Amino acid sequence: MRNYYIAGNWKMHKTRSEAAELAKTLVAQLKDGKHKYLVAPTFTSLETVGAIVKESNVLLGAQNMAAEEQGAHTGEVSVLQLKDLGVQVVILGHSERRHVYKENDALINKKVNLALKHGLEVILCIGELLEEREAGKAEQVCETQTVKGLAGVSAADLARVTIAYEPVWAIGTGKTATPEDADAIHAYVRKVIGKLYGADASAQIIIQYGGSVKPDNAAQLMAKENIDGALVGGAALKADTFVPIAKFS
Ligand code: 13P
Repeated sequence: MRNYYIAGNWKMHKTRSEAAELAKTLVAQLKDGKHKYLVAPTFTSLETVGAIVKESNVLLGAQNMAAEEQGAHTGEVSVLQLKDLGVQVVILGHSERRHVYKENDALINKKVNLALKHGLEVILCIGELLEEREAGKAEQVCETQTVKGLAGVSAADLARVTIAYEPVWAIGTGKTATPEDADAIHAYVRKVIGKLYGADASAQIIIQYGGSVKPDNAAQLMAKENIDGALVGGAALKADTFVPIAKFS
């Protein structure tokens, strides 16, 4: 039985005091929650939020990290610096990183391996553009991103990897993939994991759905066999909308 994993990606929102207020409310309201929870604030709020979620059932995540451990990389943040702040999880390959900041599979793969080497958990985001879906290429795109993103990752380390399927056309648009469409891609990605790592890994890997998840569609999505959680953007910015998603059942 896979556990559900509900994560909030706060993207580039909130000052430290705003982040602290939301984190405090979430810690209080999720303490009796049954699932695995994560919040991923911006780098500048990690220390503040980390102090609040410490020793709660809410994990601390970063939204990105550099592909190198340290050095002359102006504007980047290293895995060592994230660990120093108590970060436990890093989101990698988010579609905004892929499509706005032009990160490719090779770079994302380097980050995945570096994060795992340093003991972090990884949420590896995959997902197709609208034109790729319309051209019938959604499965192929997700397969390529999964295979290339996980190159060099051992079966043992895969236990610290979560996949997040986020169709790009559903992010921040109010358009959700139907639970059936999302489940079909999740099932396909699970098969890809099976080919790479075997049946046990395929059965166990957590695959989150992301893209306009809201309190009123979370339960239908989570009811699908291959959907094991959510990576939530807009609705993660308020406790009023994140908590009902986090407690969908
Ligand atoms: P929205 O929930 O705002 O569509 O964002 C999804 C997302 O990108 C989470 O990483």
